Amino acid sequence: MSRYIINGRKRLSGEVEVQGSKNSSLPILAATMLTKGENVLFHCPVLSDVDAALRILRYLGCEASVQNGAVLVRTDSLSGCEIPDAFMREMRGSIVFLGALLSRQRRALISHPGGCELGPRPIDLHLKALRAMGAEISERYGVIECSAENGLRGADVALSFPSVGATENIILAAVLADGTTTITNAAREPEITDLCDYLTSCGAEIYGAGEGCVVINGVKSLSACSHTIISDRIVAATLMSAAAVTGSEIYLGGISSTHLASIIPVFEEAGCEVFCRDGCIRFKAPERLRAPSLIRTMPYPGFPTDAQAPVMAMSSVAGGSTVFVENIFENRFKHVSELCRLGADISVEGRVAVVKGVKGLYGAPIKAQELRGAAGLLIAALAAEGKSELTGINYLERGYESFEQTLCSLGADVVKI
Ligand code: UD1
Repeated sequence: MSRYIINGRKRLSGEVEVQGSKNSSLPILAATMLTKGENVLFHCPVLSDVDAALRILRYLGCEASVQNGAVLVRTDSLSGCEIPDAFMREMRGSIVFLGALLSRQRRALISHPGGCELGPRPIDLHLKALRAMGAEISERYGVIECSAENGLRGADVALSFPSVGATENIILAAVLADGTTTITNAAREPEITDLCDYLTSCGAEIYGAGEGCVVINGVKSLSACSHTIISDRIVAATLMSAAAVTGSEIYLGGISSTHLASIIPVFEEAGCEVFCRDGCIRFKAPERLRAPSLIRTMPYPGFPTDAQAPVMAMSSVAGGSTVFVENIFENRFKHVSELCRLGADISVEGRVAVVKGVKGLYGAPIKAQELRGAAGLLIAALAAEGKSELTGINYLERGYESFEQTLCSLGADVVKI
């Protein structure tokens, strides 16, 4: 079992290019199933979740490889319609394969994406929308069987919550459907816009991507294309947190400041200077951080739930108190007990965590239990005096590409064992 040994309190400096977005890559890889010809995806991060997506494509009969840093996918030979339980459980993002597979094969057999690391993760919104588009769906012995013998048809879908995954699945099901689909209360995350940009390059007709109402006119076919995945705003927020807790000045390249519009003000409230220009961010932390007062996670363009743990690590060493309200997932404070092992002062009541900033943290053995929590623990370990040992880094590696190398290139002391 791999782990990180972190010697904290090292000042960081230098510049890094922010990796490609995991949450863009997964739906775009699923979308390749709808295309003819060879897709070339640039800036696709090397992550275990991306690897899992490539394995699903290969299992279904597609050709998928990584060459010279680009991911090549050709799905003309796709023949299967079943995604085995082991694949579905491996990666929660696997549910976005449903809409594309059903559209392509008119039949899809999957199981629940499983687990409850952040609390229950129902897929009722996905299934309700697909039913409205003509799919027949039944569930038996843990297998969800979806079929649309006569093909999917456009529909008006109103989401009761702007679910990211459901919005992606509906778009994937709609681009080749018969007629027009309108999604109201659609998720507006930049990763949805990236998926739509990719599909539009393939020939899809999509209006309103990144807005609350998305209209999709079904087309007859899509052709593969070359596409560059957007940079990962959560990785950027994590790197900013790393610089903040170590009193550092760093430069982040290739990142859209618009995608960080709700995150940057939190760092500014903490006393950090953030200068954005031409896709580059200069980030400078103060000697002593001030605690941001209130952070509420919300759907985009609100503060992202995925940045909650790294920013909480920052707040734990800031002067003053921060109240975190987690509005997206029920159980997203698993990192709190481990942060407290490092000396943080945090109390949790349901969806609210109150962080009282302490003067300093000290190294300790800590264990990650999920992806973004792992990032938060790593940030706290960078802030801590002495040595920390972080286990459970397999979670971190689901979303962060060679992150110890990125941090070491900036001057951190992190060794992977
Ligand atoms: C995606 C991201 C994840 C991020 C999350 C919220 C990917 C691969 N993952 O996850 O990193 O944390 O968005 O920004 O892109 N819900 C339902 N019924 C449904 C679907 C969702 O009740 O059918 C609820 C969920 O339980 C959760 C909330 O809606 O409480 C948000 O979920 P959703 O936006 O769907 O997140 P994911 O797509 O799973």
